[in-house]
Amino acid sequence: MRFETERPATWQACVACGNELTEHDPRARCPRCGGLLEIAHRPPGLGREELLLRFTERRGRGSGVAASGVWRFREFVLPSAEKVVSHPEGNTPLLHREAIDRWSGIGGLLLKHEGHNPTGSFKDRGMTVGVTQAVRIGARAVACASTGNTSASLAAYAAQAGIPALVLVPAGNVASGKLAQSLAYGARTLLVRGGFDDCLRLVQEAGERLGVYLLNSINPFRIEGQKTIVLEMLEQLGWNPPDWIVLPAGNLGNTAALGKALREALAWGLIDRVPRVAAVQAAGAAPFARSFEEGFARRHRVEPETVATAIRIGDPASHDRAVRTIRETDGVVLAVTDEQILEAKAAVDASGVGCEPASAASVAGARELARRGTIAPGARVVAVLTGHVLKDPGMLLEYHVERDPPPPGANRPVEIAADLREVERVLKSLE
Ligand code: F0G
Repeated sequence: MRFETERPATWQACVACGNELTEHDPRARCPRCGGLLEIAHRPPGLGREELLLRFTERRGRGSGVAASGVWRFREFVLPSAEKVVSHPEGNTPLLHREAIDRWSGIGGLLLKHEGHNPTGSFKDRGMTVGVTQAVRIGARAVACASTGNTSASLAAYAAQAGIPALVLVPAGNVASGKLAQSLAYGARTLLVRGGFDDCLRLVQEAGERLGVYLLNSINPFRIEGQKTIVLEMLEQLGWNPPDWIVLPAGNLGNTAALGKALREALAWGLIDRVPRVAAVQAAGAAPFARSFEEGFARRHRVEPETVATAIRIGDPASHDRAVRTIRETDGVVLAVTDEQILEAKAAVDASGVGCEPASAASVAGARELARRGTIAPGARVVAVLTGHVLKDPGMLLEYHVERDPPPPGANRPVEIAADLREVERVLKSLE
């Protein structure tokens, strides 16, 4: 189908064959060719200044839904939504720490900290839209496969909406904070004996055969919400784009969302140039980086392994959409080792900012690109921190308490008798 005459405000289009579906169609993929779907909006018919004013005015409305860091950009997200399922979310800070400048070798490195979202990761931006859509189409249950953050977020938003949620996670490879969240918010949690890629295959089959509404990032409504990371960042920079945006990459939904946001911001006149995008993978889970090195001649699948369990993914679902982001922004894809990730995480944590391991891949990647000269001296760089430091306490305790011998940055706790002299002794050792 194709909407020839009067276009609705929003519709879905297949990225592969161009087939068009209404915005209320619940199918996860194109019914004609099986391709991924994308949301398209009619331009809002407002001038740049008017649009920008709306975004900031809504933020001024305090802590309500209208002020949400997702829904205040509603013209870009889902203009027709009336009743939204919002925590609210977004409105995350753009941080600067001199200690991280020194560590990374990048002066003025900014950190867009998505760990400040309600469930502690950027996933809430997509999930508020995904669950809003689930309610609009009358879904009887929602489901996702996850490395942990998507499931935590889905569990929270589904609970708010009163819809049963099913989450599939790889047994033994989910950080404890994330697993605890899914359980706490009441999602039915399945520990699948396999990896994330197995979970995703299984949940897609369940979506097709069992009629549950799929809320992985292949769901195009999730992508619409995640775009607001970039819109909000651009707004914080006075709509003067940085030279680089660096982000961690796993299933590649976020890399796709970032590119779509930049494409639309350019088309709708909000910015006059696009930053270069750097997608950073863990070396043990880097099929996209490998494909980039071959000029995207082919797609790779790997058996993934990394300490950054959030991005432990071997066959990313949004590969094609992410290739478009890298091509359109003259971007790069690189892999960093687990050691580089842990070193970056220690630097981010020690600065007082803190983030989960996968998030630190962006800072590790930024440093590596500056070292190689790809990021030029003086470039304005924003690294996205995707998740909160408390997401993975198990890894932190292993690093700081258990590992023997202690790694260089380990901060061992000290057990003492309940005696002031012992406190004094420790205090002296700090001076
Ligand atoms: N950072 C964190 C903290 C994540 O949880 C994820 C993905 C990414 C980065 C990568 O984003 O997949 O869009 O390329 N987590 C998914 C999940 C897979 O299930 O929570 P991506």
